[in-house]
Amino acid sequence: MRHILIALAMLLAALPALAQPPAPPQDARQLVDMPDLPRALMRSDMQDHLMALNEIIGYLAENNLAAASETAEKRMGQSSMGKHAYIARGQGPGRFMPDTMRQMGWNMHDAATEFAKVAKSGDQAKAMAALQQVTSSCVACHMSFRTR
Ligand code: HEC
Repeated sequence: MRHILIALAMLLAALPALAQPPAPPQDARQLVDMPDLPRALMRSDMQDHLMALNEIIGYLAENNLAAASETAEKRMGQSSMGKHAYIARGQGPGRFMPDTMRQMGWNMHDAATEFAKVAKSGDQAKAMAALQQVTSSCVACHMSFRTR
């Protein structure tokens, strides 16, 4: 019995070394090469999109549709476009995006502006549906492109 236990323990200890390391998940996204400045500008935009989205969900939970509308338009909507012009001087992220990616970016701004309009009208259910169009635009681009 004791020998069997020792043999079993040795076998168990050896198992991880025998097993092949698991393959990392596939990444099918297209790599978009960008210089450091536009990539940094895009990253700070992305961080702000996420924060804005979080605020919007909070406002919707409080039924404060006016504030949700304002945050969406100012931070993600059409009015937020081109805000880096002064720093970027023609080297903004959009310039380095393939056409489909740039279109996806515009779709996101359009969806945020559409959400802002719907939220302003005061219908919470319609606002939720419009917000999902915004998050769908995040998902579409994130599933297609990467920058590193
Ligand atoms: C036009 C394409 C596009 C759209 C639209 C888009 N993103 Fe991104 N986002 C990217 C890319 C590309 C990266 C970098 C991913 C990489 O290179 O691995 C990124 C990175 C991020 C990051 C990580 C930032 C960090 O800390 O490095 C966050 C958070 C993010 N996006 C949030 C959002 C949210 C929220 C939305 C929608 C409101 C959104 N993004 C819409 C392309 C997009």
